[in-house]
Order: sequence, then C-alpha cells, then structure tokens
Amino acid sequence: MYQLNYHSISSKGLVLKDLNDILDEAIAFNASKNISGCLIYHNDNFVQILEGEKKDVLEVYERIKKDNRHHSITLLWENKVNKRHFEEWNMAYYNPNEKNMKLFITNFLLLSSLSDRNSGTLLSFWSSVRKILEDGSSHLGVNKL
Ligand SMILES: Cc1cc2nc3c(=O)[nH]c(=O)nc-3n(C[C@H](O)[C@H](O)[C@H](O)COP(=O)(O)O)c2cc1C
Repeated sequence: MYQLNYHSISSKGLVLKDLNDILDEAIAFNASKNISGCLIYHNDNFVQILEGEKKDVLEVYERIKKDNRHHSITLLWENKVNKRHFEEWNMAYYNPNEKNMKLFITNFLLLSSLSDRNSGTLLSFWSSVRKILEDGSSHLGVNKL
C-alpha cells in the first residue's frame, strides 16, 4: 500500500461545476483502481492524499499533474504504509454560511488532531489541511475519493 500527498492552487475562474466534474472523474477512476483518499478544497488551495497500490497511485498522480484546472502542483510526501486510512470516509460537500463553516473547521481540525499519525504522508496531509483551513474561511469541499 502506498500513500501520496500533494498541494496545488486552483486555476483562475474555477467554478462549482468544475469542482463537481473533478470529483466525478476522481471517484469513477479511483474506484476502478481501488484508490482511496481525500481531497480538500479551500480558498483556491487543493490538498489531496491518495492511497492504493504504488503503480496505481503514481499513475493517477501523473494524470492529475497534467490537469489545467490547477497549477503549482507540489509533491509533499509519499511513502509505503501497511493499511488504508481513508477507506471508510463519508463524503461531505461543503458550501456553508460563515457560522457553520467555523464549526466545521473546528471539527475537522479536531479530527486531524485525533487521526492516526504513523506515516509521513498522513502527517504532511493533516498539516497542510490545517494550514489552509486556518488561513481564512470561504468555500470548502472535503471529499472521500
Ligand atoms: C485537484 C484535482 C484532483 C484530482 N483528483 C483526481 C483523482 O483523485 N483521480 C482521478 O482519476 N482524477 C483526478 N483528477 C482529474 C484528473 O486530473 C483528470 O482530469 C481525470 O482523471 C481525467 O483524465 P483524462 O482526461 O486523461 O481521462 C483531479 C483533478 C484535479 C484538478
């Protein structure tokens, strides 16, 4: 089992439909390759963690890097792991008002503090998530892949 975590910036003019399209493509392809993970979108930042067989994770990452809906793609961490960490995640899509957003971010950061931290990729994923969530609050999506 392999995990990979990257950060990127969304391209200018990205709209909700683009995010939904990205998610539809990701869910369909990842399911076919048995890849799980989580994609966070907040304030023009994407952070994604992918896990699966190494060759599949690297293949999907190559596809993602070519996508012109984001840029400045930076690989943050990759390593082998013994088990999946994101298999059971429930999908949430978030476009909340300010009040709910604050609560959501608080809960999500709490989740991050409780999460299993036994791989470098997990550590780097959660620390990137904290960084982008603590940096203002507008539109956020969190999705199981
Ligand atoms: C931030 C971001 C995350 C993405 N995550 C995935 C993913 O996890 N799996 C996936 O198959 N495609 C993902 N995509 C979409 C791929 O980049 C690509 O558009 C899609 O796989 C279709 O590729 P194709 O046009 O070569 O068939 C993502 C795109 C972006 C911008």
